[in-house]
Amino acid sequence: MPVMLGQSKAIQAVRAQLQRYAGCDVQVLIEGETGTGKELAAREIHYASARRDHPFVPVNCGAIPDSLIENELFGHDRGAFTDAKGAQPGLIDHARGGTLFLDEVDTLSDKGQVTLLRFLQDNEYRPVGCGAARVSDARIIAATNASLERQVVAGRFRRDLHYRLNALYLRLPPLRERDDDVALLAGHFVGAVAVRLRGPAKQWGEDALQALLAYAWPGNVRELDNIALRAYMCSEGPIIGLAELAAAEPAFAGAGAMPRRRASEPDLGFSAAKLHAIRKFEHDYLTHLMQQACGNISAAARLSGTERRQLGKLLLKHGIGTKPFRPR
Ligand SMILES: Nc1ncnc2c1ncn2[C@@H]1O[C@H](COP(=O)(O)OP(=O)(O)OP(=O)(O)O)[C@@H](O)[C@H]1O
Ligand SMILES: [Mg+2]
Repeated sequence: MPVMLGQSKAIQAVRAQLQRYAGCDVQVLIEGETGTGKELAAREIHYASARRDHPFVPVNCGAIPDSLIENELFGHDRGAFTDAKGAQPGLIDHARGGTLFLDEVDTLSDKGQVTLLRFLQDNEYRPVGCGAARVSDARIIAATNASLERQVVAGRFRRDLHYRLNALYLRLPPLRERDDDVALLAGHFVGAVAVRLRGPAKQWGEDALQALLAYAWPGNVRELDNIALRAYMCSEGPIIGLAELAAAEPAFAGAGAMPRRRASEPDLGFSAAKLHAIRKFEHDYLTHLMQQACGNISAAARLSGTERRQLGKLLLKHGIGTKPFRPR
């Protein structure tokens, strides 16, 4: 079973939270952009909890048509419909003793939301065509790419249901807020590809790593996983350099053409927008500084009042070399 890897402070905090939530048997709401690891987090909570020997049942709320929601969740009794030959358990029955993972919970229709709310009020449900109520002991973990709070304010999600789901809350940070994890995950995924394909081990070149670090990762960890696979396939030798990366993913062709999100994008959260503004400032400052110092790092360190080592690290982070600034 995959584990949530990462050494950034943010992901360490998430892992600690997962462990705490595993020991606390109530609903959890997980929010995070696509590919940040919401399902992985839900599985980790389940498998670290006392429910680990019972099923983990994922449900994609967006994929259930309105007319079938009760049937899917609660199941049906024999003779519920003309063609219902036998009783069929619902997803809630399958999750007995375990965890029901409601993915994309924000996509539930009004009817779906009412159905779920009614169930969560007393954990009782009635299979379609059955008079007798049953009680479920499944733990509910819900996940969404959207902010449920914002959906509530916009009138698209019931406030009472939001409260019910949000007993414990977990936010998965986007990958662009976890610089410390990019190289680690990139190395892990390339290693995993080699094992999966029984191919030779490969490593990322320094130029490719810099480019990965500068990228905005709109598809987060899943996107990195996919790019690692493609870059592995595109490289002949043991090193995956920027050229192979660019061949695998055109977004990396031309270091200046990174699809970094602009800090002014309204859907970017405050901390992400701040992080981007800081990065842009650092990049512009360092470029100007290196121009003034004619590519001499020691001189640049003196001019800017920073330590040489610290400056070297910053230059590396932004992929700024000294060569273009040296006098010809
Ligand atoms: N920290 C991590 N360490 C290792 N693998 C990870 C990590 N985070 C995510 N992954 C992997 O990335 C992929 C996407 O994760 P997951 O499906 O949990 O994301 P998600 O948030 O549910 O995405 P979506 O919103 O698109 O459904 C999975 O293959 C998962 O195993
Ligand atoms: Mg998911």
